[in-house]
Amino acid sequence: MDGHLNSLRTLCQCIRMLPIFFVCLATAVAGASLVAPRAAVTTNTCSCSFGQIGVDVDVNIAVDSSNGKLLNSTTLRRQKQTFQIFGQLCQPVDSPLKPAPVQVLVHGQTYTSQYWNVQWNGFQNYSYVDFSCSQGIISFVYDNICAGLSSHPATSKDCQLPTAAAVASSVARKLKDGSVARALTGTTRLFTKVVGIGHSLGSLTLNFAAVQDGILSPFAGLILTSNAHVANSTSLLAGLATTFTPAASVNPTRWGNLDSGYISGPSEESRLIFYGTPDTFNPSIPQLDFMTEDVGSIWIGDQLANINTPVTFRGPITTIIGALDATLRPCDQPTLQAREKVIIPKVGHDIDLHFGAANVFPMMLDLFNAATK
Ligand SMILES: *[C@@H]1O[C@H](CO)[C@@H](O)[C@H](O)[C@H]1NC(C)=O
Ligand SMILES: *[C@@H]1O[C@H](CO)[C@@H](O)[C@H](O)[C@H]1NC(C)=O
Ligand SMILES: *[C@@H]1O[C@H](CO)[C@@H](O)[C@H](O)[C@H]1NC(C)=O
Repeated sequence: MDGHLNSLRTLCQCIRMLPIFFVCLATAVAGASLVAPRAAVTTNTCSCSFGQIGVDVDVNIAVDSSNGKLLNSTTLRRQKQTFQIFGQLCQPVDSPLKPAPVQVLVHGQTYTSQYWNVQWNGFQNYSYVDFSCSQGIISFVYDNICAGLSSHPATSKDCQLPTAAAVASSVARKLKDGSVARALTGTTRLFTKVVGIGHSLGSLTLNFAAVQDGILSPFAGLILTSNAHVANSTSLLAGLATTFTPAASVNPTRWGNLDSGYISGPSEESRLIFYGTPDTFNPSIPQLDFMTEDVGSIWIGDQLANINTPVTFRGPITTIIGALDATLRPCDQPTLQAREKVIIPKVGHDIDLHFGAANVFPMMLDLFNAATK
């Protein structure tokens, strides 16, 4: 908990150097009482209510998560645990409280919910949450386990792929039964259909949730960005392994008390793997990326071998990939093109943070609308 406070203080120092509006707000509230029961911020388009929600999981995870094995080929232990999940429910201003569909946005490794809801001054138009609000669509965006303002267990091995997937599904169920809205706004609002939208590890997590839950999945559909079905998980892991390093060595002040399974990016340069050619993104973006990077559990990513096509899941699944995504190499373009549905030119791995996001946002909303009809 002390480390958590430290990280909040360090974020405050970042704010002095760079006006990162939303982080400042979240920090002010979370710093005051550590756990903000609930609070709200309203922009031109969105009214976002945020705070922590208790999410129970009851899943089987690997006893030895370090071997990257298939879960069905290794010894498992039952994990019954409650995680505090930091989330924001963003509803269009003046949206009537009637039941409506909602999208759940899950970020990637070493990012936080800010990936989907950029509030850096001058960069707010990169917020998919804001864009969605402006089109009348409600979002729930949260920090993954072992990341951001959500629980950081004493051992990062409590954050494995089945755990993260169970949290995603549980959050979707809690949106449907009205308890997320009740916890964050004080008013019950039932959501009719829930679409999961992931980025990178968030996509892998939602994909695994659909494998794990099958026909019982609470999701009506999935949009998986920056995640290729054809990715050779061995080579994908190899590519990413050099991208991350123990967080405690990256920033001892913020993360010194976290075990070595908590990882982060060692430098601004190391983040460039997530971007396309220099003409495809604003030159300030990598700096903002590095200053707001966070930690994640290495074990979630280490279980990529378990990613298969969800066979009994009934909703539509669409994959969106950037043509310049360096983490998916050496997958060759023709193979990708043949197997994946949507390839976006001139964007790299962090699709939302490229100029090309302006074309992808309407596409994702169209897919959302189609899945919730
Ligand atoms: C384990 O899972 C993999 C991938 O889903 C599958 O190919 C394999 O048949 C499974 N093995 C067992 C013993 O169920
Ligand atoms: C996956 O990539 C690794 C490393 O590049 C390679 O050794 C392996 O043969 C590849 N596997 C498949 C099935 O393509
Ligand atoms: C945000 O605005 C900038 C400047 O007009 C533009 O270059 C960029 O493509 C926009 N991004 C999105 C996601 O709309």
